[in-house]
Amino acid sequence: MSVHILLGLQWGDEGKGKIVDFLAPNYEVVARFQGGPNAGHTLVFEGNKYVLHQIPSGIFRPDVKNIIGNGLVIDATVLKQEIEKLASQGVDVKQNLYISHKAHLILPTHKLLDTASEQRKGDQKIGSTQRGIGPTYKDKVGRNGIRIGDILLPNFQEKYAQTKASHEEILKEWKFEYNLEEAEKAFLDAVDFLKTLPLADTEYLINDYISQQKSILAEGAQGALLDIDFGSYPFVTSSNTTSAGALTGLGIAPKHIGEVLGIFKAYCTRVGSGPFPTEQDNEIGEKIRQIGMEFGATTGRKRRCGWLDLPALKYAIMINGVSQLLMMKADVLNTFEELLVCTHYELADGTKTDRLPYSLVDTAVKPIYKTFKGWNCSLEGMQTFSQLPKQLAEYVHFIEENVGVPIKLISTGADRNQTILK
Ligand code: GDP
Ligand code: IMO
Ligand code: MG
Repeated sequence: MSVHILLGLQWGDEGKGKIVDFLAPNYEVVARFQGGPNAGHTLVFEGNKYVLHQIPSGIFRPDVKNIIGNGLVIDATVLKQEIEKLASQGVDVKQNLYISHKAHLILPTHKLLDTASEQRKGDQKIGSTQRGIGPTYKDKVGRNGIRIGDILLPNFQEKYAQTKASHEEILKEWKFEYNLEEAEKAFLDAVDFLKTLPLADTEYLINDYISQQKSILAEGAQGALLDIDFGSYPFVTSSNTTSAGALTGLGIAPKHIGEVLGIFKAYCTRVGSGPFPTEQDNEIGEKIRQIGMEFGATTGRKRRCGWLDLPALKYAIMINGVSQLLMMKADVLNTFEELLVCTHYELADGTKTDRLPYSLVDTAVKPIYKTFKGWNCSLEGMQTFSQLPKQLAEYVHFIEENVGVPIKLISTGADRNQTILK
């Protein structure tokens, strides 16, 4: 058995939570490999909706082990809340969850730094979730971070005090006013709670599972266009959201990777600032937002909406080595007379290209669209690909041919059951 990776190919919120939960019965292990509480992964089944931020989306399947890998940054307070909420819903997380000693801890002052940094940027702000992601990864790479395993060491309090002091110096220099008391108390309580959880050297655990031929699904957060190296820099998150991130974020060698499942919406959304060539900042975008309920699962912010962007999708497929595609939220387009798909960009000098320029931030691109006829009917109750309206089948085939990768799954609603395999 090899490790499969599931990851987002757009700007996040493609529906990773739904699909990981749907596919989890095919796997023995689900492992998150990067990001942190900036993620919001929604699962809907048996009439209930759940949003997970740091806990892998296999947690509702009692036979599946879940791993929070070393590549994550963890907010202990949010994790404690997530676990308590799941417990109140009858899920005993401790039975089926392992947390890497090597994941980094988000401190309350990291969150303040995130907010302060955004304020200082003004118009240029990233539109961060302000969950402390950037400052925590910055400390990790700068070799100043505090890891989960450190909470078990006798000098944890000292380390914490030192790091906090260095953050407070910056906040003072930036003249950022704050009151840390409540957040710090919650953090220290949550750290004590964290000590009671199964903390582990998860790189050993996962490689033992691989030796035992167990099937493993690595769950990404965010999406390829938010990747720190390949996304629309600097309007990105601070981790490698692409398949390489699964290797470093879990401690898996490339030879163990099998399928790479790339998930995308039948249109595009983005939350936060940054370039979005096919954005429809008009009544079309508003219609997509209302029907698709495109509001952030973590921050509640309005998601920007637009048409499907094939140059960007092809780029994401290339960087990730995607072997199968999963198309989400087809139902959201049910009532559109016409659907547009961007096949190329036109550059300022009139050149037509299907490649992404070095910087979408500094290069103006004009999307060139192909128009499709909408299907104008409900997809309710359809369970097989052959039942789908012919216009939707044509939309699917066009994308497959254009990007050269088969679409193996089509999602027609938020519920686990509204999923068609092809
Ligand atoms: P994730 O971050 O990739 O897990 O995605 P989010 O949970 O942030 O956002 C996806 C949203 O779309 C959630 O509200 C899901 O419940 C919902 N959703 C997922 N698949 C479908 C679908 O096929 N149709 C519709 N209408 N909603 C969907
Ligand atoms: P899931 O896993 C959508 C966006 C933020 C901002 C940028 C940087 O649910 O798909 P950060 O907090 O990481 O410093 O924010 O990235 N962003 C997401 N957008 N889905 C997410 O996660 C996101 N996580 C971060 O809106 O533009
Ligand atoms: Mg989300």
